[in-house]
This record gives sequence, C-alpha cells and structure tokens, in this order.
Amino acid sequence: MGQLTGKVALVTGASTGIGRATAERFIAEGAHVYLTGRRKLELEAAAESLGDRAVAIQNDISDLDDLDRLFGRIADDGNRLDILFANAGGGEAEQPLDSLTPEAFDHTFGINVRGTVFTVQKALPLLNEGGSIVLTGSSSASRGIAGFGVYSATKAAIRQLSRVWAAELAPRGLRVNTLVPGPTDTPGLRGLAGPGQVGALLDDMARSTPLGRTADPAEIANAVLFLASDQSSFITGSELFADGGEVQVFQ
Ligand SMILES: NC(=O)c1ccc[n+]([C@@H]2O[C@H](COP(=O)([O-])OP(=O)(O)OC[C@H]3O[C@@H](n4cnc5c(N)ncnc54)[C@H](OP(=O)(O)O)[C@@H]3O)[C@@H](O)[C@H]2O)c1
Repeated sequence: MGQLTGKVALVTGASTGIGRATAERFIAEGAHVYLTGRRKLELEAAAESLGDRAVAIQNDISDLDDLDRLFGRIADDGNRLDILFANAGGGEAEQPLDSLTPEAFDHTFGINVRGTVFTVQKALPLLNEGGSIVLTGSSSASRGIAGFGVYSATKAAIRQLSRVWAAELAPRGLRVNTLVPGPTDTPGLRGLAGPGQVGALLDDMARSTPLGRTADPAEIANAVLFLASDQSSFITGSELFADGGEVQVFQ
C-alpha cells in the first residue's frame, strides 16, 4: 500500500517541472491526482503519461472564474480533496528595480500571490479534515539576488501566507506548509536563460548550492510527498528547504 492510497490530490502547474514530478510521485504512492496548467497539449501529454489516476483540467490560476470551474469540476466528479499542492507559478527573466514595469509587477504577483491565494480559498470547501496544503516558495525569498526583487517578494508573501493560514485552518484539521525549492532543473528555470545561455545558467545555479548541483524535480517531489503525507502530521506553518543547502549553509 502506498503512502497516499485512497487520497485525492490537486497539483496546480503539473504539466512540467516540479508539479509534474510531484504528480508522478503522488500517483506512484496510490493517489488520484488532478493536474492543471494553461497549455492544453502539454498538460494532456503529462496526464496521459501518468496513467489512469491522472486527470488533466486546463486552468489558469490567475483567472478566478477559471478557478471556480476547476473546483466545480472536481465536485461534479463526486470528489473531495485530501492534498492541495499549490505549485503553479514562476518568474520572468531579470526585473531590476530601475527597469521594472507595473505590468511585469502585476503579472508576477497576479499569478504567484493572487493566483495562489484564490486557489487555496476556493479549494477550502472541498478539503477534507486531516488534509494537507503545500505552497511553493523559493530559496530566492531568503536571499537578496539582484534582479529577483519582485519574484522573491512573491515567494516571501507565500511563506507568510502559509503561517497565517496554518493558524486559521488548524481548527479544521488542515495543515499548511511551504516547500522551498532551490535551483531545480525544470523548463521554468531553463526559460530564465538568454539565447544559448542555458548551460551557463545551470552552472551558475549549481555553484550557488553547497552540494554543487541543481536538483532533479523528483528530489523536490520527495520533499512535497513528506509534507503532503501523514509522515508530517505534526508539522504546520513551517518551511521545508529542499535547496541543496543554498540558504542556510555558508560556502
Ligand atoms: N525550478 C526552480 O529552480 C524553482 C526554484 C524555486 C521555486 N520554484 C517554483 O516552483 C514552481 C514550479 O516551477 P518549475 O520550475 O517546475 O516551472 P515550470 O517547469 O515552468 O512549471 C510551471 C508549471 O506551472 C504552470 N503554470 C504557470 N503559470 C500558471 C498559471 N497562471 N495557471 C496555471 N498553471 C500555471 C505551467 O504550465 P503552463 O505554462 O502551461 O500554465 C507549468 O505546468 C513555481 O512556483 C516556481 O516559482 C522553482
């Protein structure tokens, strides 16, 4: 029997990267998993590769009507949720303060913060007592990296929201934690590189960790599984760093 046998999970942003790897791990542990993402083809390809217990629902977390449709569909299926991994998000290439535009600010906050807030709010009626909500932070929220002010601020907001929601939702028996990935080799990370610069970007990222490498998304998925499962039953309001030591270890 798997760690998540009989559980129903929603993984937002699961067509690629950390979300897809986590959906795969949840399914391997016996869960029934709803996967979301904006691009239909990529999402459906991911769900198809994951088998019968993967269900794709095209969705944009920055669109509140679309979020209502997502949770309406899960309810129409006769399902409730035991696990919400609010993972959809990301950042743009560098946005230093002197060239930051209001549009870029609104875009990043609109997805990473507003989208996550309303994903969790609208999931609440479906979440079972004993359920686990895992938010996605970033090691960049604990460091000052030039050009990442807006992105890292969105992830600092996520950290604080998880603490507040842990307090608000504990009476319902729900736990809320933030998973903090360090540099992880995903399409999202690679997309930050300029033309022909992917290798250099990955090398730079690898050097930023004491372990001297980037993570495989499957390694992040292992950490999400811990927070999602009953193995972490006494943990709420916390951050789990899966960052190769990037934030806490001096190098
Ligand atoms: N990779 C890293 O080094 C790293 C480090 C720290 C934190 N993180 C965080 O980890 C999470 C996953 O990132 P990743 O590296 O795995 O990136 P990724 O490979 O680009 O995956 C992001 C996923 O989210 C979906 N998505 C993006 N915006 C969305 C929206 N508005 N609504 C619904 N789905 C959306 C994407 O699909 P569509 O584009 O088709 O919507 C995709 O499935 C993000 O929150 C990111 O900030 C990543």
